[in-house]
Amino acid sequence: MTTVLITGANRGIGLEHVRQYAASGAQVIATCRDPASAAELAAIADAHPGKVRIEALSVNDAGSVAAFAQRLEGVAIDVLINNAGTYGPIPLPEGMAHQTLAGMDYDIWADILATNVVSPFRITAALIDNIKAGETKTIVMMSSGLASIGTNVYGGSHAYRSSKAALNMLAKGLAVELKADGVTVIAMAPGWTRTALGGPDAPYSVEESVEGQQKVIAGLSLADTGKFLDLAGAEVAW
Ligand SMILES: NC(=O)c1ccc[n+]([C@@H]2O[C@H](COP(=O)([O-])OP(=O)(O)OC[C@H]3O[C@@H](n4cnc5c(N)ncnc54)[C@H](OP(=O)(O)O)[C@@H]3O)[C@@H](O)[C@H]2O)c1
Repeated sequence: MTTVLITGANRGIGLEHVRQYAASGAQVIATCRDPASAAELAAIADAHPGKVRIEALSVNDAGSVAAFAQRLEGVAIDVLINNAGTYGPIPLPEGMAHQTLAGMDYDIWADILATNVVSPFRITAALIDNIKAGETKTIVMMSSGLASIGTNVYGGSHAYRSSKAALNMLAKGLAVELKADGVTVIAMAPGWTRTALGGPDAPYSVEESVEGQQKVIAGLSLADTGKFLDLAGAEVAW
């Protein structure tokens, strides 16, 4: 049976991944900062007894990551989805004003880099033995179309764009390093999706985005490692 670990699983895209994986019969390890206030996640766990293990994890806290990895010692993970991420404390579109040449908020940028770049790396490093023990040995870095350098024609969102472009470099670098171990690493562009981060004007519902992503993830093989894919499985320009 497939075991999937999803970070940032209390809302948005992460929560929907839990919902759809649990419904499909997968074993899910769902992390969030504060399980006590994750009511929707708890409801999914209740609806699928024994299928969803909820774990506290604050991705930017090295101690929290280390303790989490210890609790998972010996647990094989087939798919790790490094989903937790941020556009900063002010969502789109208002948040864009804090990421411009004239109006950069450097504290926000530092937090975005910690959450979107450093933390997925730290979590991957902490869980690499679990992933190597899994069957499909898959790591998904939750990137963004805004990471694409090749398709950046608008500028703006410099803090978020640069963080996800850096995450893409990690996905590629880890893919190269881990290929010999049979580990597949991809960067995923989930599409502009209606969540707290994406805002209400996004074209995709979380259900559509996650359904597409899960089809792509299910079809991955080692031949795909190092790719930047969208929710339909098409390659995105770096
Ligand atoms: N929505 C889109 O249009 C879109 C497009 C491209 C890429 N993405 C990416 O998709 C991923 C999920 O985004 P979303 O739209 O679902 O956003 P969201 O609704 O804002 O959810 C973000 C999730 O990340 C968690 N998170 C953020 N910082 C964290 C931290 N320091 N420690 C632990 N958890 C943390 C949040 O937990 P809390 O509730 O505790 O804050 C929440 O569970 C992100 O990586 C995002 O960049 C989204």
